[in-house]
Amino acid sequence: MSTATSASAPDFEPRTAAILEQLHAGGQLKRLQTIEGPMDATVRLRGYGEVACFCSNNYLGLANHPEVVEAGIEGLRKYGGGTASVRFICGTFECHEELEARIAGFTGLPAAYTFTSCWNANEAVFPTLGDPGDLILSDELNHASIIDGIRLAASIKKGLHKGVYRHGDGDDLRAKLAAARANPEVTGTIWVVTDGVFSMEGDIADLPAIRAICDEFGALLVVDDSHGTGVMGKTGRGTHEHWNLPATRIDCLTSTLGKALGGAAGGYVAGSKAMIELLIQRGRPTLFSNALPATVACSANKAIEILEREPQRVARLRENVATARKGIVEAGFEVLDSPTAICPIIVHDTAKAIAMSKRLLELGVFVIGFGYPVVPEGHARLRVQISAAHGPEHLEALISSLRQLRREFAD
Ligand SMILES: Cc1ncc(COP(=O)(O)O)c(C=O)c1O
Repeated sequence: MSTATSASAPDFEPRTAAILEQLHAGGQLKRLQTIEGPMDATVRLRGYGEVACFCSNNYLGLANHPEVVEAGIEGLRKYGGGTASVRFICGTFECHEELEARIAGFTGLPAAYTFTSCWNANEAVFPTLGDPGDLILSDELNHASIIDGIRLAASIKKGLHKGVYRHGDGDDLRAKLAAARANPEVTGTIWVVTDGVFSMEGDIADLPAIRAICDEFGALLVVDDSHGTGVMGKTGRGTHEHWNLPATRIDCLTSTLGKALGGAAGGYVAGSKAMIELLIQRGRPTLFSNALPATVACSANKAIEILEREPQRVARLRENVATARKGIVEAGFEVLDSPTAICPIIVHDTAKAIAMSKRLLELGVFVIGFGYPVVPEGHARLRVQISAAHGPEHLEALISSLRQLRREFAD
């Protein structure tokens, strides 16, 4: 590892190198794998060849769908390579409006606005829409983009309060809301924020119960359904559809275009017309950052069209999830139970998770081991993600490789 020093800050390079050495020594250094072809049920990985891919968010198999690819090429031809501007200056293209109309129709909410990522969307929502005197209560296992968005809101808007409730714990949420209503410093809106599908546990938020608690205390409900969109519910509308909760019972829905919906990049916020208008007027990511690339907007639009036309993709995904979960258990591993496409196998130790992931790759199966700081210390896991693109042969490869892993790695 390089120990070169910077002339202006001589302590920086050695300090950085020391952290990296420490990660290396602890077996926690992540190695980026290079993919040499499209994202699909299998991918061509540099140094490994063709492997079955069980770690992408390509839940519906649309990332390399010919129509999605073609729509992107058409978008590139029609609108060129770059928007070269933020939206309110001269960066709003027809394809953005078309995509946002499609998203609003798909979600069943009055309006939608796109961002270059859902990270960006979450970073826009809380600092823009929150105000001093508000309280934002967040599930403790919410995604990092929600956590950082709320932190940013609290640091920008002095007097905006933030709090955390225990994961999926309605009693704790109710207690925190009751305390907030009795707190004279909480004079504004109370927000409750939850992932629809939790990205590391693969479990789901009980949205009807959370909505009922919000109603009891007059709180606003925000749901980030990045891992639920295209996956949950009969037609893939998301976690609210799974629960038969009308979309309109969610006040603010954020999600990504970077997973089931084509998988390129981009995110969105869907909500009331006034909410979306305020994001357009005042959101810092909206005002100071470029629009979603046109090619991506066109591909995402097509991906949603395909999902609307072919809900059977969601059914296929569900069947694959059931097969994979059963197989993982039969191979001798415990998987956190849930209907989602995220199947975490807890192995506790980060180094072990990374070693197991490496071995799986040698066996032709691409599964990533997650450790600290992505998950808390001691909760390292292999996160197996299922796609509608997987055929029986891919699922069999996964299960037989896991059986082999069970023989090779002791508890
Ligand atoms: C719940 C949740 N929100 C937001 C994001 C960020 O999405 P994007 O890749 O569009 O920034 C993710 C991605 O992992 C996520 O799981």
